[in-house]
Amino acid sequence: MNIVVTGGAGFIGSNFVYYELAHHPEDKIICYDALTYAGNLETLDEAMKNDNFVFIKGDITNRDEVEKLFVEQKPDIVVNFAAESHVDRSIENPDIFLRTNILGTGVLMDACRKHGIKRYHQVSTDEVYGDLPLDRPDLFFTETTNLHTSSPYSASKASADLLVMAYHRTYGLPTSISRCSNNYGPYHFPEKLIPLMIINALHDKKLPVYGTGENVRDWLYVEDHCSAIDLIIRKGKAGDLFNIGGHNEKRNIDVVKIILKALGKPESLIEHVTDRKGHDRRYAIDPTKIREALGWQPATKFEDGIKKTIDWYLTHRSWWEHVISGDYQAYYQKMYGSRETIE
Ligand code: NAD
Ligand code: TYD
Repeated sequence: MNIVVTGGAGFIGSNFVYYELAHHPEDKIICYDALTYAGNLETLDEAMKNDNFVFIKGDITNRDEVEKLFVEQKPDIVVNFAAESHVDRSIENPDIFLRTNILGTGVLMDACRKHGIKRYHQVSTDEVYGDLPLDRPDLFFTETTNLHTSSPYSASKASADLLVMAYHRTYGLPTSISRCSNNYGPYHFPEKLIPLMIINALHDKKLPVYGTGENVRDWLYVEDHCSAIDLIIRKGKAGDLFNIGGHNEKRNIDVVKIILKALGKPESLIEHVTDRKGHDRRYAIDPTKIREALGWQPATKFEDGIKKTIDWYLTHRSWWEHVISGDYQAYYQKMYGSRETIE
């Protein structure tokens, strides 16, 4: 099969490219990516050596480029990871989130309709459900939880999900959707919590924790997300929607302390700073449906995954040094320079 992976030069998309090349050598993997600030060709260095892999630079919002992709590559399956993915950036500048995340999804699905396809898979997020209160540990997001978004990012992802459902119902497009919790692992862009904290700690730089640090995220090792998507596109039915998560809830402050301990750095590096606007309190996934329907189980416990991730950042310095050497510095100054320290 020919599988187009959009956004395959980013964090999860690149891990998915490697997962597919390793587990399905019979398939051809075509990465289609616009190489925004979050896309990095160095990430795909190893994939480029594989005859079953092709990289094509292109934008999912550009109809002509997408048409060319479909004519030349004749995809059987499209897995759409391409997105603007950072909540803080969406608060600063929502516009590009609407364009890429909503319109881009529409452009891809129009091409799928025109050319025919076995499956269009939309990689979505648990953030479409909004948040859960901190004092109700009995509550979880299920596939029937109402959409209740908080940030321009999550609103754009929820809009895309609705568009996917509409294309399935109206045009019969064979779609599926997965909504995963927070991922961590190799090739994670250092604007996100875990890699940012690892890299700051390695530089003995302050670790900026938003607010009290009591917000809870449900962490999943990226390879487990990839194995779930792989199952959904191959074994799931058209029209399916699955939540993905491994019951790994952690408070941000505890994640930061785990990283500091692993690196032998003092907790005095922690700095509580002005909270994110509209900051979601808790995410927590109920993954019962995918476990029962497809037999999916996460393979990596947080204790092991975080060790592997920290080791990866220690042994791949040149990867993240290149990433943080350019525009990242200006971004960091803009986002953190004016945040006040809070006691
Ligand atoms: P990322 O920001 O690391 O990567 C996004 C990739 O998309 C980059 O390679 C970028 O160049 C590419 N891209 C952006 N705009 C594009 C466009 N117009 N055309 C083509 N390519 C474009 O993101 P990520 O963390 O790997 O997330 C991937 C997907 O998974 C996103 O859809 C995100 O919403 C979803 N998701 C992420 C998480 C998480 O914890 N990171 C959790 C659940 C779901
Ligand atoms: P992030 O990695 O941006 O993922 P998301 O917002 O999609 O969950 O943030 C994870 C959590 O960490 C979130 O509650 C915000 C918090 N956070 C900080 O406290 N400091 C930081 O510098 C960053 C980037 C995030």
